[in-house]
Amino acid sequence: MYSKRIETLCSLLFPVDTFADIGCDHGYCTEYMLRGGLCRQATVTDISAECLQKAETLLWEYIAKGVCTPLCTDGLRGVDKNTDLVLIAGMGGMEISHILTEEGGFIPKSFVLQPMRDAAYLREVLLRRGARIERDFTFADGKFYDVIVGRAADDNGEGEGDRSEKNKAEAALPYSRAELEFGRENLSLRGGDFLAYLRGEIEKKDNVLARPLSERARREVTERKEYLQGVLAGEIK
Ligand SMILES: C[S@@+](CC[C@H](N)C(=O)[O-])C[C@H]1O[C@@H](n2cnc3c(N)ncnc32)[C@H](O)[C@@H]1O
Repeated sequence: MYSKRIETLCSLLFPVDTFADIGCDHGYCTEYMLRGGLCRQATVTDISAECLQKAETLLWEYIAKGVCTPLCTDGLRGVDKNTDLVLIAGMGGMEISHILTEEGGFIPKSFVLQPMRDAAYLREVLLRRGARIERDFTFADGKFYDVIVGRAADDNGEGEGDRSEKNKAEAALPYSRAELEFGRENLSLRGGDFLAYLRGEIEKKDNVLARPLSERARREVTERKEYLQGVLAGEIK
């Protein structure tokens, strides 16, 4: 049985021809895809040979049949750009952003990304590259996680030249500050886990405010608490 986090990730995966699990470690999500016949061909990658070995052990029958390819590599290096669906989960949002944008990286045709932190940074990177975010929500499994599901821009930024790329990077983002920080879906659907996350964050601020603080620190923490309260009340969107 998978953890709720893995179950949630699996629930967002869908049938494709080719699938890649980047930073796969144990390889559970790829097992879900292959066992369910949800992809014809899977690639499992990890930067650590030791971590990749766990997936190789779990998926040995699929590897032996030639429907799963293990690859010890950094990020998306060596992964086919035409892969239909790419999962990158359990890493920081900055690390995921680097994987997508650094040499060898690309915005996958379809992606499921689960940053452990810095989701706002990752959202901004995706939006600046024209990606479409289709699902984006917080869920709880002992702690709170964000998951971002979407697609590359139709043209995937290709063939437009530097000027267009520069314009894209400088263009105003279509998201508000709160949407960037929390994701649009959380703000519009206001799911129970997201509201519980906000309440927890407000409680943390109350705990900080109960301690002796400099005037400046108190003002900053109070401002942040009021902002979170505004989001919780649905007044800030
Ligand atoms: C916490 S585990 C997450 C495993 C799995 N994706 C999950 O969500 O349960 C993070 C994995 O990402 C791998 N990793 C970290 N940076 C990476 C990179 N740049 N490229 C590929 N794998 C990476 C680590 O070796 C580790 O196995």
